[in-house]
Amino acid sequence: MTFSVCDHALLRHRMAVLRDRATPSDTFRETLAAIGAILASETLRDLPETTAEVATPLEVMAHPVLAGPAPALVAVLRAGLGLLEGARRVLPEAPIGHIGLVRDETTLQPSGYMARLPPDIAARGALLLDPMLATGGSAIAAAAQLKAAGTTRIRFLCVVAAPEGVANFAAAHPDIPVLAAALDRQLDARGFILPGLGDAGDRCFGT
Ligand code: PRP
Repeated sequence: MTFSVCDHALLRHRMAVLRDRATPSDTFRETLAAIGAILASETLRDLPETTAEVATPLEVMAHPVLAGPAPALVAVLRAGLGLLEGARRVLPEAPIGHIGLVRDETTLQPSGYMARLPPDIAARGALLLDPMLATGGSAIAAAAQLKAAGTTRIRFLCVVAAPEGVANFAAAHPDIPVLAAALDRQLDARGFILPGLGDAGDRCFGT
């Protein structure tokens, strides 16, 4: 099983704000960014390290630093932009990719409308960002686009996951670890996660 829920008191505290229907757009965006920073820190805690010489004002020391180039941060539009805002705060040197997907409200099938990925993404690996894992269709399609670009080291971050999405994603991409802030109960007939937090894209951007 490559799915896990991040165990962090601050994360749960922020989730209460994100879920609250009374939370306005600006607070929603800021809270989603804070959650993105926590999740990105957690999932990247085991990035390979090496040692470099660092001169402090007093002496030279051998210091741990990242061994390779930072993984690319790839946001699934639109709601992934909220998570991206936080992830880039903890990894500002990472290049950024965008994958535009929108889910048909009736069929729940995602369709792609744009993709821009860093050219060296295959060498870097990628952190895929989308707050909602509902049916899993969007995340499955986005991960397939990353693999088509030659990326093998992929991790997926979401905020709220439904059991259906977790199962579908694991079946399609068993090699990709998924870290979520919460695992919710179920999907409703319209494909919304229950209890969930509503439509993350709409709440982020006031649409
Ligand atoms: C939502 C959400 C995910 C997707 C999840 O995006 O942000 O990308 O649906 O659903 P799935 O797991 O069933 O595919 P939406 O298509 O509403 O686009 P938006 O982010 O631009 O609002």
